[in-house]
Amino acid sequence: MNSDWQNSSLVAEQVKILLEQLSLEDKIRLVSGQFIRGSTVKPLSDLPLFNMADGPAGIRTSPDATTATSSTALPAPIALAATWSTELATKYGHLLGLEAKLTGHNVLLGPAIDLARTPLAGRTFESFGEDPLLQSRMVVPEVQAIQAHGVQASLKHFIVNNQEHDRNSINVMVDQRSLFEIYLPPFEAAIRLGGAASVMASYNRVNDQFACDNQDILSKILRDQLGFRGWVISDFLANHSTAKSANAGLDWELTMPHASQWRSHLLEAVKNAEVSLETLNEMVRRILRPTIGLGMLESGFEQLILTHDHAAVALEIAEQSMVLLKNVNHLLPLSTDKIKSIAVIGADADTVSAAGGGSALVQPLREISVLDGIKTRVGSGVKVLYAAGTDAIGAGVLLHGDNCIPSSVLKQADGRQGLLAQYWNNLDSTGEPVITRIEPNIEFIRGFFDFPGFQISAASHHLEFFPMAVEPIFSACWTGFFIPPMTGEYALSITCAGRAKLFIDQERLLEVQSQLKLHADALHWDGSGAAFQSQTMQLIAGQKYAIRLEYASDFPELCMLYGAQLRLGWQPPKGTLTPKMQQAVDLARVSDVAVVVVRTFESEGLDRPNLRLPSGQNELIEAVSRVNPKTIVVLMTGSSVDVSNWESTVPAILEAWYAGQEQGSAVARILFGDVVPSGKLPITFPRSQDQMPPLEYPGVDGQITYAEGLNIGYRGYDQHNIEPMYPFGFGLSYTSFSYSNLEVLQDTLVTIQFDLENTGAYTGIEIAQLYLEMPDNQAPKKLAGLARVCLQPQEKQTVCICLDADSLERPFSIWDDGWKRVFGQYRILVGASSRDILLEGILVVSP
Ligand code: BGC
Repeated sequence: MNSDWQNSSLVAEQVKILLEQLSLEDKIRLVSGQFIRGSTVKPLSDLPLFNMADGPAGIRTSPDATTATSSTALPAPIALAATWSTELATKYGHLLGLEAKLTGHNVLLGPAIDLARTPLAGRTFESFGEDPLLQSRMVVPEVQAIQAHGVQASLKHFIVNNQEHDRNSINVMVDQRSLFEIYLPPFEAAIRLGGAASVMASYNRVNDQFACDNQDILSKILRDQLGFRGWVISDFLANHSTAKSANAGLDWELTMPHASQWRSHLLEAVKNAEVSLETLNEMVRRILRPTIGLGMLESGFEQLILTHDHAAVALEIAEQSMVLLKNVNHLLPLSTDKIKSIAVIGADADTVSAAGGGSALVQPLREISVLDGIKTRVGSGVKVLYAAGTDAIGAGVLLHGDNCIPSSVLKQADGRQGLLAQYWNNLDSTGEPVITRIEPNIEFIRGFFDFPGFQISAASHHLEFFPMAVEPIFSACWTGFFIPPMTGEYALSITCAGRAKLFIDQERLLEVQSQLKLHADALHWDGSGAAFQSQTMQLIAGQKYAIRLEYASDFPELCMLYGAQLRLGWQPPKGTLTPKMQQAVDLARVSDVAVVVVRTFESEGLDRPNLRLPSGQNELIEAVSRVNPKTIVVLMTGSSVDVSNWESTVPAILEAWYAGQEQGSAVARILFGDVVPSGKLPITFPRSQDQMPPLEYPGVDGQITYAEGLNIGYRGYDQHNIEPMYPFGFGLSYTSFSYSNLEVLQDTLVTIQFDLENTGAYTGIEIAQLYLEMPDNQAPKKLAGLARVCLQPQEKQTVCICLDADSLERPFSIWDDGWKRVFGQYRILVGASSRDILLEGILVVSP
């Protein structure tokens, strides 16, 4: 059935019959969904339960729906976007739809199609990057495939939910043209072409109104302009009102019973005519339409066993998504004939921990780390040895300030590594501590990342959880010795929410008290309120300095989402190598090749404080590449990172993204040439954070103005003439391609035709891109089409990309209080990336 449910008269008739059978109370119950780990409304006579699963990157199983605890962990959506492949988006969607079904879910909270306005945004990994056309091309087949299994897709987050900073309340001021040309197109495509059943209204405000209360966006834009006929779900606890949200166009409240704004309140509101019965009926119709139309009434929901082996799909997508960013002198692909030893380095190279955190985190069915993948690939003829190099990465790296003091310079008197930690469930450290244990270092964020029983944090599997016995209000003390690895000037620092004191050799060095703002909204999650203080000291290598850090999480905002935050940080003298790094360097020195696997921590809940690789990983890469000229860096990130510290000294760089459960095999197969890399960047990599186009972010006093208009992503780099490190659309291959003979053919459709030839030695896939420049700069240069072509060596193909003026992509129109065709002379730009234009032509669009 798929998108047919929207206008089917048969469906409309069934909806009508069912609606007539429902009492007022039934209707209220139906729309006032509660959501606790997937459990929702009680079944009405003829209606199945809605069992919802989160899952832009795999099914986040909810115990109320399923006995399964894990599912296939796919590469993150940003990785899918890097394939630029609609076929793979279809496979991705089928896997999600089928696994949702098999685990007893019938609504999937995804895909996410939030544009990457800033690469710092914590949820960048959950969507398809910075370009609306690429987002649209990915989401349509994915939604169609999900819904082919009778599972309803819920597009999120409507709308302009482009950052986590202040996400529950930020007021986004955005103009209509930017909305229609940049932020809405993926939603419109997923609705009109994909037939998406549902849309999730976001937490933020849009032009002064909460999205869930916002008639302009939920009714005028979503229903009237985009033609949406399904139901709008609020994000979790995002509904702030009763009559206002119902009248604005919200249809279903995702919440917890005690926090509901609807239920009895909505019943009251209908009874006293603040919400008309017809409005309530229409809410019910919107829910029933896709529920009936996608066949949920017949099939109900089944709870089957997830026996399907989808590993091959996860592997294929991972392989096709990886982007080769640098490959000097054809270092890659490696050959087992030529190398005898490999050093695999990285705190999580031996686990599958690098993934996006928050509601998109999946418990994988199986895990193949890069270390395992490489070992399996090379067999016994090549020695593969491992060193961590840095400490494991957890949510604490999202705190601003210096890197954490690493564990290998912290010691106990008896020589054990780390600090003695003691915790008290009071603020003055009195009585017996509730927990006493050795911890490697001091860096944590509690709250959102630390829900007991909820697997939300994408922290390294090497890290221990924060002790459950410790309550939100607590005090703690860490003691031990700090042993500087080098003589020189060190900055020691504290980043904390609460109060903390640092003593070195019994002398107080730092005393910090955070001054957090009080937020009206108790669920407000900000994270930037932590205080930072630093002090320099001259220290001598090898000397033992007694260290003591006292902390109390005494700040008033403490709540279930906003917990204790603390880091003991440092800035060592330049060139400092910790003992752990030294081990990795020593291993790299004696190995033929060094593969350094580095990662970020990115998550729902908080944006990254900067684009730097956290926890000394930059220093690790620099040190390894100094001793091994065959150093390959594998980036496991959900967004762009600043590679400027070491880019010029490293011969090969592979962006592997958060590559899902099969990541190790995929990386190994790329490194050894079983797969020729073909991914291209769906997001720009800046040269550094201060070389990004100017953009208001993260807002001022809770408000942010999208003054850049259309100019996000590569559009902004073009506008400000900024050279990126790696442009949007960029990606190398082991083979090479040449572009020639551009022709612009004009008939009912415009066809851009050119020849593409594989001029190298490997069969490979090229993603050729078509960009359009409008007459008189009426809009920035934009991606208007693409072709993903597989060619054998020396094979040449004529490639055609069509532009359809009347399609939803509206290549020749701008939004000016309605869609307006722009006539005149267009520049046609065809190339291998947004900055590597190889063919140019002219197209005249006339009335
Ligand atoms: C997220 C949504 C998610 C919902 C339910 C919210 O915190 O923003 O994307 O679907 O929780 O888990």
